Amino acid sequence: MSKDTRLEAVEQFYEFHPISAQQIFDAVAARGIARAQISEEVLQHHDQDHYGGTAAVDRLMAEASVRADDRVLDVCSGLGGPARYLAWKCGCDVTGIDLTASRVAGASALTEAAGLADRVRFRQGNALDLPFDDAAFTLAISQEAFAHIPDKPRLVAGIARVLRPGGRLVFSDILSRAPLAADDARRLYEGMRFSEIATEAAYRGWLQAAGLQVQRVTDLSEEWTRILVDRHAMYRSLREQTVARLGLAHYERYDQAYEHFVGLYRSGVLAGALFHARRA
Ligand SMILES: C[S@@+](CC[C@H](N)C(=O)[O-])C[C@H]1O[C@@H](n2cnc3c(N)ncnc32)[C@H](O)[C@@H]1O
Repeated sequence: MSKDTRLEAVEQFYEFHPISAQQIFDAVAARGIARAQISEEVLQHHDQDHYGGTAAVDRLMAEASVRADDRVLDVCSGLGGPARYLAWKCGCDVTGIDLTASRVAGASALTEAAGLADRVRFRQGNALDLPFDDAAFTLAISQEAFAHIPDKPRLVAGIARVLRPGGRLVFSDILSRAPLAADDARRLYEGMRFSEIATEAAYRGWLQAAGLQVQRVTDLSEEWTRILVDRHAMYRSLREQTVARLGLAHYERYDQAYEHFVGLYRSGVLAGALFHARRA
């Protein structure tokens, strides 16, 4: 697939994200922990780039009934926090795929440092073009990433293809309660690189069309609104480091975009949910 400018824009966005593998290694060192002592227990306080940290991964794992013999695909795996946590907690084998090369390199370095590279690996690639065999996985997961992806019917059809019959797709995503006003959609794309925020009803249709039967949808909107208000405050508390690393203009642009995003949660325009679907 030739590269869509929206995909290039997402990669750029994550190349300059305030949280990076180096920033995690620095935060761990600042706790007085040497590189050789890094373990998953240490990393999990720093490396989860979704809403709700490891508690959200625990909920996803319970929803998916993850087992040690699952072969898991983490779609849009970022720095690999959920993938490592899953493998560490359940003993399952996890493959992550992410579009952004620096995220994949960072995820691999963190996984190596945590001693989990025998069970967890990462590939650079586009979730719209999964480079895996048919029926290669028993479970696919994702957290807070699909809103970046422009063609969701193609996304969920590709995931269905790589799942075995009976395999599960369990993911959480940013949703809108109704189609977004054009100005909000534009600002969410310009500020956060969300190229397509879906409604729950649209997801239900796309999943069904891809042969994935919806088992349950859990509304997370209220919880996420509280979390996002706190995350925004946390971002502001890192002002000094972010300005030093990425410059004032970058800090302010992201701050304004985040304010708009959080405002849409507060006013009930945006929502969030955990989906559980199963391949027939
Ligand atoms: C908010 S981060 C979530 C990372 C991870 N799921 C976590 O919870 O820590 C979103 C990730 O989606 C990735 N991404 C966005 N569009 C993608 C695509 N089309 N294919 C693969 N990865 C993509 C970005 O590079 C980024 O690392």
